[in-house]
Amino acid sequence: MGAERGKEETLAKKGKTVYVCQECGYESPKWMGQCVCGAWNSFVEEKVPEAAESDARRRGSAPSGRAAKPVPLGEVRSGERSRIQSGIGELDRVLGGGLVLGSLVLISGEPGIGKSTLLIQSAARIAAGAGKVLYVTGEESEEQIKIRADRVCGGRTEGLYLLAETNMEQILAAAEELQPGFLIIDSIQTMYSAELESAAGTVSQVRACTNQLMRLGKGKNIPIFVVAHVNKSGDLAGPKIIEHLVDCVLHFTGERDQELRILRSFKNRFGTTSEIGAFRMEEGGLVEVQNLSATFLEGIEEGTEGSVTAAVYEGTRPLLLEIQALTASSGIGFARRTAIGVDHQRLSMLLAVLEKKAGLWLQDQDVYVNVVGGLRPEGTSTDLAVAMAVYSAAKGVPLARDTLVLGEIGLTGHLRAVGHCDKIAREAARLGFRKLILPKKNAAMMQGGAAELALCPAENIREALQIAGLKR
Ligand code: TYD
Ligand code: MG
Repeated sequence: MGAERGKEETLAKKGKTVYVCQECGYESPKWMGQCVCGAWNSFVEEKVPEAAESDARRRGSAPSGRAAKPVPLGEVRSGERSRIQSGIGELDRVLGGGLVLGSLVLISGEPGIGKSTLLIQSAARIAAGAGKVLYVTGEESEEQIKIRADRVCGGRTEGLYLLAETNMEQILAAAEELQPGFLIIDSIQTMYSAELESAAGTVSQVRACTNQLMRLGKGKNIPIFVVAHVNKSGDLAGPKIIEHLVDCVLHFTGERDQELRILRSFKNRFGTTSEIGAFRMEEGGLVEVQNLSATFLEGIEEGTEGSVTAAVYEGTRPLLLEIQALTASSGIGFARRTAIGVDHQRLSMLLAVLEKKAGLWLQDQDVYVNVVGGLRPEGTSTDLAVAMAVYSAAKGVPLARDTLVLGEIGLTGHLRAVGHCDKIAREAARLGFRKLILPKKNAAMMQGGAAELALCPAENIREALQIAGLKR
């Protein structure tokens, strides 16, 4: 501590020194062992030139450069924002219908998941339609990008410009000269602004570079995509602060040894965040998966206990997926509960309901539940399917392959209605399902439903298990 204080004093004499938390971006005039956000040893020293600091502060408060003047709400012009299509349907859908001009979009994901591939593919398509695209790379050489582009864009790379550069001022100058219609920064953690002395990837650099990009995008009405890395626990490496600055945050996920990739939006100022986009990583790059449900259901076999088909409504389309469960007698001690793709607490609750309301005793059993395909469905419409999968596994009785299960389970064991049931039913009928077990309320709301799909309404979990033929 003594040494730290000494260092601080000498630096303070040379210029203004601040200590910035690498976790949350908090600035402190003194070094601290623990930050206000709770992180330990997260402060790094950064020297801020006096002029740059005041300049940054000033520009930070009025990014557009206009004088601040309140406008009556009634006089604010609105209307559908102009968008350009990326040419990749799944990406456009996740963005809410295409790229909004002037928007700043952050795309994150583990290394090797396919961020650069997705961006070069959309860049090539936008260049073919909407004008020049500038792809700035701080990680790979221009040649590496070219090799990838040749492989995945089928030679259609007219209007696509590459720049291997990490200095933000140079990049802005290049963008000024080229006047691109779309800009890609791969990745934000490799970029640095010469205005600051800290290393690339630190909180203040990431924040300053993002701010510079935002000013460029909003000023020139260019949509900008920024790649950001995630750390081991899946959080954005660097500060959360970039998430607040940008208009959209997209996460690209998947298992590297499997082909399927899911693009999901976590924040979207111009659309819903419940849309997902699906891709397959193939030899020639990313291929859109139009019929995700069919892909998920491909491998299901008749007569397998512990396997139940569930449905969720993601954004604007229904999605059918398989839920698998396994129970095995646990050793002496405590029973394990392992959930992949299902919320852990939700599973505990469902197991408690199964015990109390359906008489399924699992205290000496390990329980494993997995959503096939690496998806993490949100919401509670898969409750009944999870409970049934566990029941079917524990009793060793399979559920008929052509049965779809839908419904939220309350603590009383009663089934609660789920949204968009009619659309899910239509999709199920199209995919060859013949029976839908659903909450009574949903059945009452559905007019007729699909002809080939028999609706089997259930009041509570016990009744649903009986209808499914799992319980007598
Ligand atoms: P990349 O887009 O470089 O990932 P990121 O930018 O997210 O780090 O993708 C790298 C991986 O994708 C690499 O493991 C190879 C694989 N890949 C294919 O399977 N097919 C392809 O056509 C391309 C370009 C990459
Ligand atoms: Mg990359």
